[in-house]
Amino acid sequence: MGRVSGEVAIVTGGASGVGKDDAILLVKEGAKVVLTDLNEKDGNAVAAQIGENALFVKHDISSEDGWKEVIARTEEKFGGVDILVNNQRPAKELKLRRFPITPLQLGQE
Ligand SMILES: NC(=O)c1ccc[n+]([C@@H]2O[C@H](COP(=O)([O-])OP(=O)(O)OC[C@H]3O[C@@H](n4cnc5c(N)ncnc54)[C@H](O)[C@@H]3O)[C@@H](O)[C@H]2O)c1
Repeated sequence: MGRVSGEVAIVTGGASGVGKDDAILLVKEGAKVVLTDLNEKDGNAVAAQIGENALFVKHDISSEDGWKEVIARTEEKFGGVDILVNNQRPAKELKLRRFPITPLQLGQE
């Protein structure tokens, strides 16, 4: 029995590199995987290589609507989401980092 048997995982940037290896390993350990990427050709090839326990969904990680679609497609295909491997980070710095954090925002008096 694999370490993640019966779990459903989403792996971003899953068409190549670390994300591809993550997706293959998760399925070897018993999970079903939705891998997402901008690269449709390689993403579909990885999903085909893994087989029935994988689905590729084209997705730009910076798209909020894209995330909604990925989650809906994952629930539709595998019945839920248990694991997120957010492997591919945004190319641009997150805007959040530019906001100052004050004691008030941290809930202090
Ligand atoms: N490989 C390393 O040694 C290493 C070390 C430290 C950090 N990282 C980080 O880990 C992540 C993966 O690294 P990697 O070496 O496997 O990279 P990679 O370039 O081999 O794979 C990244 C994948 O992400 C996809 N991608 C790029 N932009 C995307 C977007 N906006 N939405 C969806 N998919 C997108 C690419 O098409 C590609 O398939 C990167 O964020 C990288 O910065 C890697």
